[in-house]
Amino acid sequence: MAEIILTIALEVAKCLAPPAYRQISYLRESKYTSNLQNLNTEVVKLKSERVNTEHQVDEAKRKGEEIEENVENWLATANSVIKEADKFTEDEATANKRCFKGLCPNLKTRPRLSKEAERQKEAVVKVLDARPVNSISYSIIPEDTLLMPNKDFEAFESRTSILNEIIDALKNPNVNMLLIYGMGGIGKTTLAKEVARKAESDKLFDQVVFSEVSESRDVRKLQGEIADKLGLKFDEESESGRARRLYDRLKKEKRILVILDNIWENLDLLDVGIPHGDDHMGCKVLFTARSEEVLSGEMESRKNFPVGFLKEDEAWSLFTKMAGDYVEGNELKEVARDVAKECAGLPVSIVTVARALRNKSIREWKDALEQLRRPSSSNFKDVQPAAFKAIELSYNKLGRDDLKNIFLLIGYTAIASIEDLLMCGMGLGLFQGVNKIEVARNRVHTLVRTLKASCMLLDHISQKKELFSMHDVVRDVAISIASTERNVFTATNEQVDGCREWSDGSAIKHCTSIVLHDINTNLLPKVLECPQLELLFISDDPWEYSRVTIPDNFFKSMIQVRVVNLTDMDLRSLPSSLGLLSNLRTLSLCWCYLPDLSVVGGLKKLEILCLRDSDIKKLPVEVGELTWLKLLDLRDCEDLEVIPPNILSKLSRLEELYIGPKSFDKWEVEVEGVKNASLEELKHLPNLTSLELRARDVSTLPRGLLLEKLERYSIRIGDDEESNGSWCREFSLDLNDKICLKDSLIVQLQRIEDLELRGLQEQDVDYIRNELVKVGSSHLKRLRMRGLDPALSSAESEV
Ligand SMILES: *[C@@H]1O[C@H](CO)[C@@H](O)[C@H](O)[C@H]1NC(C)=O
Ligand SMILES: *[C@@H]1O[C@H](CO)[C@@H](O)[C@H](O)[C@H]1NC(C)=O
Ligand SMILES: *[C@@H]1O[C@H](CO)[C@@H](O)[C@H](O)[C@H]1NC(C)=O
Ligand SMILES: *[C@@H]1O[C@H](CO)[C@@H](O)[C@H](O)[C@H]1NC(C)=O
Ligand SMILES: *[C@@H]1O[C@H](CO)[C@@H](O)[C@H](O)[C@H]1NC(C)=O
Repeated sequence: MAEIILTIALEVAKCLAPPAYRQISYLRESKYTSNLQNLNTEVVKLKSERVNTEHQVDEAKRKGEEIEENVENWLATANSVIKEADKFTEDEATANKRCFKGLCPNLKTRPRLSKEAERQKEAVVKVLDARPVNSISYSIIPEDTLLMPNKDFEAFESRTSILNEIIDALKNPNVNMLLIYGMGGIGKTTLAKEVARKAESDKLFDQVVFSEVSESRDVRKLQGEIADKLGLKFDEESESGRARRLYDRLKKEKRILVILDNIWENLDLLDVGIPHGDDHMGCKVLFTARSEEVLSGEMESRKNFPVGFLKEDEAWSLFTKMAGDYVEGNELKEVARDVAKECAGLPVSIVTVARALRNKSIREWKDALEQLRRPSSSNFKDVQPAAFKAIELSYNKLGRDDLKNIFLLIGYTAIASIEDLLMCGMGLGLFQGVNKIEVARNRVHTLVRTLKASCMLLDHISQKKELFSMHDVVRDVAISIASTERNVFTATNEQVDGCREWSDGSAIKHCTSIVLHDINTNLLPKVLECPQLELLFISDDPWEYSRVTIPDNFFKSMIQVRVVNLTDMDLRSLPSSLGLLSNLRTLSLCWCYLPDLSVVGGLKKLEILCLRDSDIKKLPVEVGELTWLKLLDLRDCEDLEVIPPNILSKLSRLEELYIGPKSFDKWEVEVEGVKNASLEELKHLPNLTSLELRARDVSTLPRGLLLEKLERYSIRIGDDEESNGSWCREFSLDLNDKICLKDSLIVQLQRIEDLELRGLQEQDVDYIRNELVKVGSSHLKRLRMRGLDPALSSAESEV
């Protein structure tokens, strides 16, 4: 009560003061208030600018880039200016509070404070003006995920001793080629990765490059991988041109180690563009291979390192690590030790068997031992019987049919991504009781995770969640099992060429799956007589000039087929017999040359059509006849110019539609009176759950678009930026002052996670904020607004 009285008293006193004083003090007071307000406005701008820059910095760092020094400096200055201003306003606020309690600051100090506010405002504006406008980061060599701590490396004596020998050899100026060799699954790759890591951490080289060669011996891919790691971009198309560029670039590195993992035959380093020997003593090359004989030629500058079996105690220690300590318990110990012995010191066997038996009862352990001791059911080339039996056992222990099916499918098709596995598995009907694609996708994620946990699948080199890979020994076993249990036939060009089974068709008749990789000769029969065939994969060799044609009647006698995947083929004349495949569920024609696709109209049961990266120019009207279609993938169809009206709207069962990120964007574009499809058509797709699309013009977006029903979407309007791929609900819009925001667009964005708006007018900003608050944008994780007005040019916030 006393306080209130005091305040009133003060007010009264003011009123009684002479008018002049009141006048001046009023002026001072209002100047002070406006200076303070100006300061606050600028600080808000600077803060959002700082957040924006910080985000850019974070993103650049994620990409492995270095931040420009001026940007770091700017951020430091911005921080200190903001801190000072915040302190000022905070002091001001406490002073005001005290003032409310009747303890006003001396009015005489107001001019000083006012000036201080103005000074600070100017400082803030100066920092704002100096904000980094050019690129904030520069690319350095991206950090190699391989060189991060290597979780697979066990510091066993048998391994560390080789590791140390290799490191010594790398220090020896007279050695410039090294070979680690040993049987599949013995741990060569793991060891080579550890060499890379150690060479890098001990700074033995300025650069360490690790590249997987594998059986396909794809020189171009190899060149690309090495170049990526050096930050080199090729302008050349030809292999030899690229080799020369790479060669020049590598010569500029004083000390570089190139690791080529898993070579299968003698590789001419000069073909790839790797200088070695007297050409460039600073460039050392380390190979891994299954046999010492893959490398021919002079020996004096080369050193070979055999990798052998793990010693018994090492094997046991790895075994208990994978199976869990409980195997050391009295009950299990003996049988577990015997099981471990059967794995013969091969890491790949130990790991898969131990994982398969983890937490299992003693009965199952005994049964496993019995299985491992039985003579091998296969004498598969290149695979040790011990490894074969171990992996076969792990396969049997997968138990569930869906896991086994998926494991074999990944093995013999060499599919490496969740999306492709989904399309293929869905087509084969592998997910029982699942009709919805979104549900199937979750199932696929779970299955892949389970297979990784049992060490039957590995994380992909890139560490991307949607990719995976398989150890090559495990793959060999998977292919072998698939060929005996499921009548699966897989081959590369060389293997098919001159293969009797293939040419006289006797064994092929019973096949359920055929996978032909990297075909470059015309070896397809006129008619493939395969009445039981369910899956057919053919991929053209991307690096050889080839003109593999598919005979017109090729598909005539495979009437049960459910999945057809032709990759990288010249389908100038798409065989008419394709249209007869009335059971076909999944058709994938990625990277194909596809002038005319009208034959697909006959595929009445087709559920999944994937034309990713194909050169299709016009979506044929016959696609409108595919009324069972659930998924249409037109990603990266850069030449796609025409989607005629009333095709998409007929696909009433469509659940997923992908038209991006570099693909058709000409909705409603009209040329000579013929108009392209309209996005309004999407309203006729009641079951759509995933949508990716681009448009040039926001006015083509239908009002009341069904966004709220979509589980996942990425919609980008008016920009060419790529979404980073892991989108869930993302919307990006260039307003370019053409459109009035107030036509209920935003209201639809209920569950949006990532919203980017460009070309905003100042008055729109508050509108959008309010609108977002109104619809309850609780899912919003990221909001980016870029305005026309430079002051507003960028505000970004993490919500
Ligand atoms: C193994 O069994 C133990 C106890 O029964 C349990 O806590 C653990 O989660 C199980 N581990 C696996 C991988 O199933
Ligand atoms: C099609 O085959 C290619 C090459 O074998 C493979 O990479 C891709 O994953 C397959 N796609 C589908 C959808 O099966
Ligand atoms: C949409 O999905 C529901 C539930 O799966 C199904 O009953 C319905 O037939 C589908 N609608 C269309 C047009 O296919
Ligand atoms: C669709 O757009 C393309 C490219 O702008 C144009 O050539 C074509 O005539 C348009 N419409 C149709 C139905 O072809
Ligand atoms: C993609 O962007 C999202 C948010 O914008 C971010 O959280 C995520 O880490 C990014 N992913 C990659 C692979 O850059």
